[in-house]
Amino acid sequence: MIDCDVAIVGAGGAGLFCALEIAKRRKDLNIIVFSEVFPTRSHTGAAQGGVNAALANVAKDDSPEKHAYDTIKGSDFLADQEAVFKMCSLAPKIIYELEHMGTPFSRLENGKIAQRPFGGAGFPRTCYSADKTGHVILQTLYEQCLRHNIKIIHDFLVLDLVASENRIYGLVGLDFSTGKLWGVRASVVVLATGGFAKIYWNRSSNCLGNTGDGVAMVSRLGLPLKDMEFIQFHPTGLRRSGILVTEGARGEGGYLINNQGERFMKKYAPSKMELAPRDIVSRAIETEIREGRGFKDEEGFEYVYLDLRHLGKKKILERLAQIRELSIDFEGVNPIKEPIPIRPTAHYTMGGIDTDINGKTPLKGLYAIGECACVSVHGANRLGGNSLLDILVFGKLAALDIVENASFEKKEFLAKALAKVEEKIAFLFEDKKHSENAFKLYKELGDILWSGVGVFREEKGMKEAMEKIIKLKERAKNLTVKDKSDVFNTELLFSLKLLNSLEIALAVVIPAIERKESRGSHYRLDYPKRDDKNFLKHSIITKENGEYKLSWKEVQITKYKPEERKY
Ligand code: FUM
Repeated sequence: MIDCDVAIVGAGGAGLFCALEIAKRRKDLNIIVFSEVFPTRSHTGAAQGGVNAALANVAKDDSPEKHAYDTIKGSDFLADQEAVFKMCSLAPKIIYELEHMGTPFSRLENGKIAQRPFGGAGFPRTCYSADKTGHVILQTLYEQCLRHNIKIIHDFLVLDLVASENRIYGLVGLDFSTGKLWGVRASVVVLATGGFAKIYWNRSSNCLGNTGDGVAMVSRLGLPLKDMEFIQFHPTGLRRSGILVTEGARGEGGYLINNQGERFMKKYAPSKMELAPRDIVSRAIETEIREGRGFKDEEGFEYVYLDLRHLGKKKILERLAQIRELSIDFEGVNPIKEPIPIRPTAHYTMGGIDTDINGKTPLKGLYAIGECACVSVHGANRLGGNSLLDILVFGKLAALDIVENASFEKKEFLAKALAKVEEKIAFLFEDKKHSENAFKLYKELGDILWSGVGVFREEKGMKEAMEKIIKLKERAKNLTVKDKSDVFNTELLFSLKLLNSLEIALAVVIPAIERKESRGSHYRLDYPKRDDKNFLKHSIITKENGEYKLSWKEVQITKYKPEERKY
């Protein structure tokens, strides 16, 4: 058994910042961070374009208040406004904290932190480090955690939470470097497990870890998940792989071009053009493709172009160096000389574990932060640059709450949970007559979601998708792990993850069918208008006796009343 006071699950920006903020204040607490990957390989490192904070270094008129307004409007008025104001007002302080820890932000000529324009923002507000912002933030936080002697156990997949009498008591996880199962006794558990856009499989910009494991564990405890139907499709994923091409590329002046050679965004968002919010730009690209103004290659991939050539070699090498490398490596295209073939890609999940502003769930001692959580600050559509901010702000607020309010009682309830997980793994190893393979089912799941619950949705397609997911769940009962080894058994790992992803896929499609309106990233061809009268509310999905139940919860509207969203 492993014993600690605070178990943090996930070593991305949210998990590491939370660990650090607790460690700085409470040296007496034994904190352990558990991570599926080596910390500096967490998905935060894939965030490219930047982090928003109204520093007003480029535009003097910017302010946290304006940042909050842009975020609420971007969310299609589904964000909870108190949480948005809190996030935007803490943003400048947090950026300077990162700077003081050593994060190498790009600079203006006058030495101040540089800021670039991003989608849906009224001012150039996104602080960046070339096109590797998440990477440098993650490296900085990891160094700081080492400096504060924070213990990190990696190659460790958390499989279940242990709770009793409405309180968390620990977790069960698999050290897949050895194949050993562990019970972890902890008084406080913080989930920082990231989003679940990888359930769209190769139609996603996400890393292999983002399969929704934390969210699925929470739903198994009967706790509420919020706004799960809102999946963000980033407009510019590389044509074949879905790998992210940062919005920073458009922030630096990149154009989107159709097969007529037109900058087609003038039809969809004449004032913001390529820098409209992501939901609008993704729909515009998909509309161009649907109406025959896209391109199709010999393998059947459809796409439009992101053209950076006019930015010039110097700017591309200086500010978009990683984009150049990714385009060459994955598309064989050098953006200095050729346009990049792109298409929307499942990138971010606005919904997740329902928490309060401090990351608290209804289960005593259990917190959720970052993309696995839904506070909610992003509502129906997140603005680019607000995700790195979210993980930092809510990582910090959860840490402060734990330091001030958590109680550190411990009880030993691990045996039963361990036995249950052991049984599940033994069953996966059993040879079955009609054996199924996790990677094959994942590919099918991704295709089902992309075509049924993608950028455009309608009732028939979503109901078909739901039926197909239910059939996949049936087939998953025959999952058979053929590789019987203990050490780094990725087939076992992805079989366990697939069971979680199938649960999550259902939790996405059920509220998507019931939300009979279009709002932010949830665009329905059969209900193309926003319907504030009936749907200005959060969907809540909760598991009761093995079945999902849907209910609704008020949105907190304080200052900004819903208005038509024009760009
Ligand atoms: O486009 C990007 O660089 C992504 C940023 C984000 O999702 O916030």
